[in-house]
Order: sequence, then structure tokens, then C-alpha cells
Amino acid sequence: MNTFEAISQRRSIRRFKDTPISDEIIIKILNAGIQAPSGKNRQPWRFIVVKEDKRPEMIRIMRESIAKVKEKGGDTGSSEWTTNSMEKAPVTIFIFNPYAENTTDYGHKSSVVDVQSTGAAIQNMLLAAQELGIGTLWICDVFYAYSELCAWLGETHEMIAAVSFGYPDESPNARPRKPLEEVTKWF
Ligand SMILES: Cc1cc2nc3c(=O)[nH]c(=O)nc-3n(C[C@H](O)[C@H](O)[C@H](O)COP(=O)(O)O)c2cc1C
Repeated sequence: MNTFEAISQRRSIRRFKDTPISDEIIIKILNAGIQAPSGKNRQPWRFIVVKEDKRPEMIRIMRESIAKVKEKGGDTGSSEWTTNSMEKAPVTIFIFNPYAENTTDYGHKSSVVDVQSTGAAIQNMLLAAQELGIGTLWICDVFYAYSELCAWLGETHEMIAAVSFGYPDESPNARPRKPLEEVTKWF
């Protein structure tokens, strides 16, 4: 698979097979992540791999935290559907910025540069997984359980995102994209 094929064939996968992913494959994907470019080569990423044995606890934390938000009348967006997808995925990798302190302020933005760098690492992992026949879901709905997940994972740094990985049990159509002309100006 060449890069363009990987880019065009990748989809967000929300249904995964039970088949586990070997540690060897997880390491290949992580190695693709750490080869991403980063501002000043700061490599502002740390990864925590959560496998099947810890998955029930992760899902419990997500569901309890979302329930708390609901009890307070808060909007929980797509977080319940995302949790169902996470429950099916054999692997979820959390990405943290080791340079930014933990915060429960959801409006907080870590440095724009570091966020770009972690985004590049995440996209590298998505494309590497695609090449290996593994489906991915990039997840920010973990923010609905931000402090609870950080405490559970023993992390004091800023959580950036999570990505669930698993062998796909669906082949969704491509989601629409805005036409290039709409999003590009040739100056
Ligand atoms: C930063 C970011 C956060 C996302 N968070 C979620 C999420 O929490 N739950 C979810 O189901 N999808 C999430 N997605 C996936 C997007 O919904 C998806 O990428 C978009 O609809 C385009 O579909 P595609 O990935 O199949 O091309 C996220 C994607 C990105 C890039």
C-alpha cells in the first residue's frame, strides 16, 4: 500500500472484531508515531497502551463520568457511542503532552506547536495501522472523563486524545469532504 492509498482508504472505524492485536503490531504502530516531525524536535508525546485486560475498567470510568455529566444536565455529545466503540476495540492508546500540566479546564489549550506535533504522531499511527489492516478511531470524547481517566492512568500531564485500534468489523463509506476549491486559496 502506498501512502496515497493509505490516506484515501482510511476511515474512522467504530466496530471492531474481537481479534486481539499482537504487541509486535502495536509496537510497529507506535514506532510510526514517534517518527513524526515535531516543533523543535520536542517530541511532545507519551503513550499509554490500554489492552483488553484493562478495557472493562476504562469503559466503566467512561460510562460513570458521562453519567455524572448527564446528572448535572450537561451535554454528552457523541461520547456514549464512542464508548461503545472503545468497548469493542482491543487497544486504545492515550496520547499526552508531557510539557503541559494536567488541567480539568476543557477550554485549556496546550501550545499550538505541541498540538500540531502530537496530531502528526497520531496521524502517522493511523496510516501505519491502515497499512497493517487495522482500523482506528481517533477519540476526543475521552475529555468527558478527563480527570477520571488521568487519575486512573496515573498521569499528571495533559491528555491530548485517545485512539482505539482493532481489526475492522465494518467498511464505512468515505465521509464527505469540502471541495478543495472551497478550502484552498491559491495566492
Ligand atoms: C481530533 C479528532 C477527534 C475525534 N474524536 C472523535 C470521537 O470522540 N468519537 C468519534 O466517534 N469520532 C471522533 N473523531 C472521528 C471523526 O468523527 C472523523 O474523523 C470524521 O467524521 C471524518 O470521518 P473519517 O475519519 O472516516 O474520514 C475524531 C477525529 C479527530 C481528528
